[in-house]
Amino acid sequence: MLRTKNNQLYIEDISIEEIAKKYSTPCYVYSKSSLIKEFKEYQTAFNMKKDVLVCYSVKASSNLKILNIFKELGAGFDIVSLGELERLKRINADPSKIVFSGVAKSDEEIAESLKYGILFFNVESLDEMENINFIASKQNKIANISIRVNPDIDPKTHPYISTGLKTSKFGIDINQSVNVYEKAANLKNVNPIGIDAHIGSQIFDIGSFVDSLERLIDLYNNLKENNIKITHFDIGGGLGIKYSDDDMPPTKKEFASSILNKFKDIDCSLIIEPGRSLVGNAGFLVTSAQYEKNNYGKHFLIVDAGMNDLLRPSLYNAYHKIEKVNSTTNEKISYEIVGPICETGDVLGTNVQLPRCKKGDLLLIHSAGAYGQVMSSNYNTRPKVSEVLVDNNKHISIRKRETINQMLENEENYE
Ligand code: LLP
Repeated sequence: MLRTKNNQLYIEDISIEEIAKKYSTPCYVYSKSSLIKEFKEYQTAFNMKKDVLVCYSVKASSNLKILNIFKELGAGFDIVSLGELERLKRINADPSKIVFSGVAKSDEEIAESLKYGILFFNVESLDEMENINFIASKQNKIANISIRVNPDIDPKTHPYISTGLKTSKFGIDINQSVNVYEKAANLKNVNPIGIDAHIGSQIFDIGSFVDSLERLIDLYNNLKENNIKITHFDIGGGLGIKYSDDDMPPTKKEFASSILNKFKDIDCSLIIEPGRSLVGNAGFLVTSAQYEKNNYGKHFLIVDAGMNDLLRPSLYNAYHKIEKVNSTTNEKISYEIVGPICETGDVLGTNVQLPRCKKGDLLLIHSAGAYGQVMSSNYNTRPKVSEVLVDNNKHISIRKRETINQMLENEENYE
């Protein structure tokens, strides 16, 4: 969906320059056709005749319009907060396709999700299960639950985004889990219908997913012997994407066939919770050059987007490709691309080879669709930026730039 025409970068049929003129910078831009393509790739890969539900992980990019696009394609959703639930209510998402994950569901989150009628909760501890049982009893309901187990698998990704290791806070020790299912079976207001694991994010090693699934299947068989009948397997999200040219993530087809191969004799519904692999490469951050300077041999290009707009490079040392939008020369300079925030770590790219940039030149930061806008903050009292959706030759604003008044409102008007 990205191409060059007359030395200008275009997303679908719209030039980035046009976007920047209309919405100003910084702003996030998403390609609708790319979002659709990524989702359909999962549908095809899993051959949706089999009972598979793709629950988009809302946290990756939670804009209402993006959620709506996935809903129209038949997606379910994976959520982790009351706010994410509210987003789904606003788009009229089918409650029977919603799973609620997250390590500390509040009483209100549990109560509201029960009222909306979600498919199940992914339970993270015995305590939480008892609390869900209690809240369901107050509503005279039976809450479907799935136990998130911690399978102790190393997904070989960044340590901050590995979640299925025995040292991490997530899930229940798989060796204790039969016990937890037995307890669940004795509680009146919960119904244990699922097994769940999510081992991490930006994973390239299919073997880790398969190992995790094998452990879930062992547990499933074990539970069967104990007369606990499971109907749903939720294997989480985590499939990685290409950030740099050297990255070689597995395709969705490769991922699906390894999973389906292991799953073929299991008579259960399968749920996957992809986030990054649906939206990551469909979104970009557009920023413009402000100033340049040469300090002790380092060539800094200061741009108008900072770590408050895109945190991933500062937080995880993550690489995002950066490209000049309008380039007429092949001569390149090695830039340190930094933002306006008062932090040394406010670096968006190191040693970035770009044609010489001057004030106002536009840069495109790639692969910013996942964990981009959603992780942005008001640090340095900077408003959250706008989001734009490109659909062939049309562009629409899907989020207005926040105003300074909106940022200050809650500090001036309080009870
Ligand atoms: N399901 C659960 C329970 C999760 O915790 C996550 C992500 C997903 C699904 C979706 O995973 P994905 O398919 O996107 O890998 N901020 C980090 C990533 C944090 C992932 C958190 N959990 C980053 O920018 O790399």
